[in-house]
Amino acid sequence: MKYKSIRGMEDILPEEAGRFRALEEKARRELSLYGFMEIRTPILEGSDLFVRGIGDATDIVTKEMYTFSDRKGRSLTLRPEGTASVVRAYIEHSLDNVSPDMKLYYIGPMFRSERPQKGRSRQFHQVGAEIVGAASPYADAELISQMDLMIAAFGVSGHTIKINSLGCPADKAKFADSLRKYLTDKKAMLCRDCNGRIDRNVLRTLDCKNDACKTVVKQAPSVCGCLCPDCRGHFQKLTDALDRMGVKFITAGHLVRGLDYYTGTVFEITHPKLGGQDAMGAGGRYDKLVEDLGGPDMPAIGYALGIERILIVLGDKYAGGQDTPQGSVYIATLGDSAKIEGMKLAVSIRSELGMVTQTDIREASLKAQFRAADKLGCKHVVVIGDDELKKEVFVLRDMSAKTQENVPRDRIVERLRSYRNKREE
Ligand code: HAM
Repeated sequence: MKYKSIRGMEDILPEEAGRFRALEEKARRELSLYGFMEIRTPILEGSDLFVRGIGDATDIVTKEMYTFSDRKGRSLTLRPEGTASVVRAYIEHSLDNVSPDMKLYYIGPMFRSERPQKGRSRQFHQVGAEIVGAASPYADAELISQMDLMIAAFGVSGHTIKINSLGCPADKAKFADSLRKYLTDKKAMLCRDCNGRIDRNVLRTLDCKNDACKTVVKQAPSVCGCLCPDCRGHFQKLTDALDRMGVKFITAGHLVRGLDYYTGTVFEITHPKLGGQDAMGAGGRYDKLVEDLGGPDMPAIGYALGIERILIVLGDKYAGGQDTPQGSVYIATLGDSAKIEGMKLAVSIRSELGMVTQTDIREASLKAQFRAADKLGCKHVVVIGDDELKKEVFVLRDMSAKTQENVPRDRIVERLRSYRNKREE
């Protein structure tokens, strides 16, 4: 096979595309009930947006971005995530003038050059939601509850929501210091990556997958001890609100995230069915990002769920795979004039009845056309040949009853409508 899709970037074939679409439609409905509006940003952005937004010491920026120069030598990057682009668009179009708290959602492909494995690909899809302009813990609570209910609406159960607070930038720096102090005399026990992280991005040591590192950081101080009264109060209000709204969650003092923009609340949704790559989604506050990228001082919070991972959790049984039927009516024709007549009749059936109608586009034999109609699952076949054209009476065949009748050309649509209505009764 000469041409193949790029490793880690997979074709989504029709049946799987049906599952994607069903999930996306549910997400749109759920999100719009909360007042979220869709935003579509370009897949390519200037690289510096992500370097600045996500952080130049993060794994995404140092190892995973698809970055290249365009013909004019500008550095461009395929978006590895949606938040930085949404914030860029928010600032560029002054969306703070549209609403004091802007609720935006997006669905689309993201690109990260990671080693492909189950649940991890280089092109994957996210549904993400962002609220820009609300600092209150009730924004956090409503967003997390919305996400939890949407996950349930997808049909997922058995997931765990883990929540933590990284505190404000001052708390985060205090925590980083205490972690660095704790790790100084344990360097020999840590992997090479974590040794590098101690200076560059010490919080990342907390979610290293290496077993030895995991053992070391288990005993590490948690962020709780470093939170200022405001941040502690915010977190307390959030957890109280979630408790009272019936959202199940656990607090995870060592939960940190792989993107630098987070401050305050962070959360992750995991599912045991996902194995090694167990995060179905994640999010958190990024109160400084809008300002960092040149916009007004605007608090914000959001999350993104991995669509492929949700579909893995739902498994093959997920009924979203049911696509629209490929055919209800087939127009079998013989001869050029009959073909044109057939195509015109098909236009009327589609527009007046909304029924999936297929015609013979291969110039096949009548026998082959009947076989095609059968394969497509068509309930009715209209047969048009020279004789039928002359008499202006077509043959209408019921494929399951294996009966046929002659129907005047101008009554065909009506007759199909009555059969359809009878079936729907
Ligand atoms: P993230 O944790 O990098 O966060 O990604 C969110 C989710 O995307 C993951 O939990 C996972 O389900 C899915 N995902 C990530 N990488 C891959 C991959 N290589 N293959 C398949 N699925 C993947 C963000 O992207 C943040 N922008 C979330 C956010 C929005 N925070 C605030 N607002």
